[in-house]
Amino acid sequence: MRIVKSISANIEQLLERYEKNGHLTMQASLMGKGSVVYRLQEYCLKVYTPRGKMDGEYECEALLSLQNNHHVPKLYAYASGNFVLTEWVEGFNLRQYRATCGHIPHNLIYDMFSTELQQIQAGYHDWDVIRYENLLWTATGEVKRTDFWLCEPVRCMRIRERLQQEIIRKIERIYGGDDTDMEEVMHYFDRHGLTTTEVQEALAHFRLQTPRMALAQ
Ligand SMILES: Nc1ncnc2c1ncn2[C@@H]1O[C@H](COP(=O)(O)OP(=O)(O)O)[C@@H](O)[C@H]1O
Ligand SMILES: [Mg+2]
Repeated sequence: MRIVKSISANIEQLLERYEKNGHLTMQASLMGKGSVVYRLQEYCLKVYTPRGKMDGEYECEALLSLQNNHHVPKLYAYASGNFVLTEWVEGFNLRQYRATCGHIPHNLIYDMFSTELQQIQAGYHDWDVIRYENLLWTATGEVKRTDFWLCEPVRCMRIRERLQQEIIRKIERIYGGDDTDMEEVMHYFDRHGLTTTEVQEALAHFRLQTPRMALAQ
């Protein structure tokens, strides 16, 4: 296990024991596709299933590299491909947020694109077609994302720049009133049952929001 940020002694002991004997006598809080997620006080312990082991290795690497991005949960410790300990994000995904708060997050579109842009600027490309499902909003409207197993480092600078330019152009077109690139986002809204009015309002809010998203590299 590698400890990235200091953790409480009892959690450290628990993880050390788990590394030795592979047993966790706790009830899982959530199930992922290739992992089991436990809430441990203010921490989130994500234990990879044998099927999720390799994805877990990618995720640990991405989480470590993206620690300067404020939408990435704080990483405390990990054993690559086995488990990862991050902060617990007290948040809702879009569907839960809307059901609980009675409205969509105010900065929904800004949050979706700024998290994506920051990530690519940090050199990571997310291949997950349902990546927006991984955004969690806190009660104060702050956004965090989880699930980084399809985030791949883009080591070639030319490709990285091309990917950055693509998303910058896309955001610029949306600012300019052209929604032709919004297909993927529209599907996401559709799956979450957003009404046409909500989508229109979210787009209008995004366009009027100041300051605008910083798009310069
Ligand atoms: N740090 C966290 N804080 C709170 N909930 C989390 C955290 N990380 C993951 N979750 C939740 O746990 C569930 C599974 O996590 P996810 O990262 O999607 O696992 P998988 O990669 O196995 O699909 C999701 O509902 C996600 O919202
Ligand atoms: Mg998932």
